Amino acid sequence: MISPDRINQIGILTGGGDCPGLNAVIRAAVKTALIQNGWKAVGIEDGFEGLVGDGKTRSLVFDDVKDIIDKGGTILGASNRANPFDYRTCIKKKVVSEDRSSQLTDKLKELELDALIIIGGDGTLSIAAKMHTMGIPLVGVPKTIDNDIGATDITFGFDTAVNTATEAIDKIRTTGESHHRVMVVEVMGRYAGWIALNAGIASGADIILIPEIPFRLDEICRVIKDRIGLGRRHSIVVVAEGAKSEGGDIMVKRIVKNSPDTVRLGGIGKMLADKIASEISIEARDTVLGHIQRGGSPSAFDRVLATRFGAGAVGLLADGGFGRMVCLHNTRIESVPIEDAVRQLKKVTPELDIVTAAKATGVSFGI
Ligand code: F6P
Repeated sequence: MISPDRINQIGILTGGGDCPGLNAVIRAAVKTALIQNGWKAVGIEDGFEGLVGDGKTRSLVFDDVKDIIDKGGTILGASNRANPFDYRTCIKKKVVSEDRSSQLTDKLKELELDALIIIGGDGTLSIAAKMHTMGIPLVGVPKTIDNDIGATDITFGFDTAVNTATEAIDKIRTTGESHHRVMVVEVMGRYAGWIALNAGIASGADIILIPEIPFRLDEICRVIKDRIGLGRRHSIVVVAEGAKSEGGDIMVKRIVKNSPDTVRLGGIGKMLADKIASEISIEARDTVLGHIQRGGSPSAFDRVLATRFGAGAVGLLADGGFGRMVCLHNTRIESVPIEDAVRQLKKVTPELDIVTAAKATGVSFGI
């Protein structure tokens, strides 16, 4: 593997779904590389497409990263389909998988890239961990609105998603109040309940349903009926897309055949609203917040965290910390081996004080 003092040029890649704060990481990494290390920076477009598919690359200089700290999405484009180890294409409606990883080393040589910064969620970082075992010098930056990556206290994008969801639920509440309805709001988060839990608490939800605590429909109905008995004619239910009933199954909305992670969750909000309306004589409506949670301008917190991660990633490369991922640990930027960070999804545990505080303030988890 290359010695850090021989690095001249680095590549930066954003993989997986987009997320508020990606541009702030790119900006910080480019500026730090140029100012602190005298390295050149190259942007790899559309995730791993830029290395093993049809994607392109372009050099990144100060002008390319000016005025992007507040912009959502990623100026490099992203892809949650291109995986060098399992590159899927559709031929005559059939999905064909190909291992293109052997192209990586030659491609990096051709592009004169001495090391990589790979910004992504658990899927992208798992690919990065495998690339590292092939001897490719790289570091990772944890990204996801779901906040489900282990080994970091928080991922950038999560704070913005929680703020966006909270603001939306605040607005939905007014219709619930005016029309005396149960408003069920389905939020993202995949198999973790972090967004639902935090946005639910912040918006004063009455019931919060998360994947980690399977719910009972009869209990949800009991809570709503009790509220009606107390004269509270509306209720707010925040449900994570990955929540499920006791003994029930997670609801799958669609299968994306050529994606490494084919499953897309969704539908639990409508199912719940319909069931509540049929069990209790009250109108119940569902709203799926969807991709608005991933879009828009990052919060100030996410801009700062993303800047610390971007600068930290360049520092990690300069220190020869290949195969490691920057993380936030007790307010400090540190690093961990990428393979440790992606080994297990970080989930809500019922013993956490955030769960006990929610319960203590009267929130029901439907059990
Ligand atoms: O991982 C981020 C996320 O937004 C999840 O919360 C959600 O389940 C998934 O991505 C949706 O992915 P896509 O945009 O590919 O449908």
